[in-house]
Amino acid sequence: MQRRDLVKAVGAATGAGLLGLRPDADWKSWRVNDSRVNALLEAMGKIGRTPDGGYSRTGFSDADIEGRRYVAGLLEQAGLGVSIDAAGNLIGRRAGTSADALPIVFGSHIDSVPNGGNYDGPVGSLSAIEVATTLKERGYRNRHPLWVTVWADEEYGLTGSRGFVGEVPPEELARPGREGVVLADQIKRIGGRPEAIAAERHENGSIAAYIELHIEQGGNLERDGINIGVVEGIVGIRAFDVTIIGVANHAGTTPMDRRQNALLAAAEVVLAVERIVRSAPGRQVGTVGRLAVKPGAPNVIPGEVSLSVELRDLSMEKVDWLWEAIRDQIDQVMTKYQTTWKFNARPPHRGALADPGMKAVIAVAAKSLGLTSRVMPSGAGHDAQYLARIGPMGMIFVPSVGGISHSPKEFTRPEDVVNGANVLLHTILAVDQG
Ligand code: HGY
Ligand code: MN
Ligand code: MN
Repeated sequence: MQRRDLVKAVGAATGAGLLGLRPDADWKSWRVNDSRVNALLEAMGKIGRTPDGGYSRTGFSDADIEGRRYVAGLLEQAGLGVSIDAAGNLIGRRAGTSADALPIVFGSHIDSVPNGGNYDGPVGSLSAIEVATTLKERGYRNRHPLWVTVWADEEYGLTGSRGFVGEVPPEELARPGREGVVLADQIKRIGGRPEAIAAERHENGSIAAYIELHIEQGGNLERDGINIGVVEGIVGIRAFDVTIIGVANHAGTTPMDRRQNALLAAAEVVLAVERIVRSAPGRQVGTVGRLAVKPGAPNVIPGEVSLSVELRDLSMEKVDWLWEAIRDQIDQVMTKYQTTWKFNARPPHRGALADPGMKAVIAVAAKSLGLTSRVMPSGAGHDAQYLARIGPMGMIFVPSVGGISHSPKEFTRPEDVVNGANVLLHTILAVDQG
């Protein structure tokens, strides 16, 4: 955000806008509709439920498509012009009064991890819709175009937001992905036009700002009784699909010293990831979240194991260093068990810093609402890290009860949802009037 705009936005946020008072000057008293935004979340909670009370609205699934249908209807009810872009993102647009102002973009996602929660994504997406509805009800005359976005397929690969900035290459579109379905076909299934992603990408400098409200997915805010997190930056992520190949053989007739047991090797790899990631100073994290054994029978020595390795840190250099150390260790493990290995690297997600101006506007908005706030990093990845490539990015966090996320136990209190939605409302108004 340009310095000039920053001064004006912060000025507007404090109500002393350089442009003097405007017809909607009482906007500081505006609030979202508490019960309505939480009712939207509750209705979303009826889509994609699992038997044990979790949610599986995984990207491109039938439940995801049902959820997209639900929010598309809400976008229309909010008076927005709704469309699906090349990458499959749902976008609701409200024209601005200024002929040359760039769009203010705000939103999140609604897809979930398998058996996840109902708050990771929906809190930001439904609050964005609630903000648009509130502005409509107030008859607000926004200067900037307002774009409310529901990003496609966030959890698996930040696919929609990457596509929005042109970072889903043709070779990835052509590659068979989940259930062996080619990504381009998945995107078509939700109404996207993968062949147009490159041509329709949004260039750097093409938006005025991007703001995302999201649950913290950690326990810091709740533990310290802070209402709002002002995100300073989002971690970089590298993820790898590793396959370890041994020899399947009879569990009864193969002596212990004549085995090439892929699962034993994998077990040492899992422990090596933990050991190496913990060995370096800092807040980096490393996780083996998926492990599958083949053929998976009690009387067969495992011949093949596939597992995921995911590494995160604000510094991509550190993530790269960790992966090199883990690769070296894996080579040594393979020698020990006479197994071999191969890996496929998923698209890396570079970390991103929030715009200083946006952080200031969010902090002023929280304060003016009588809320406490703290600047903090995001250990989770978000669509915002791609939007940061093309304009000033700001993220707002609200507390996760017990710090739990990506779980059926994920929960954010209704009053915290409302706090976040009001900070989102006031941040957008301040940027629009800045
Ligand atoms: O996995 C993540 O960090 C995010 O919730 N997609
Ligand atoms: Mn999320
Ligand atoms: Mn998530």
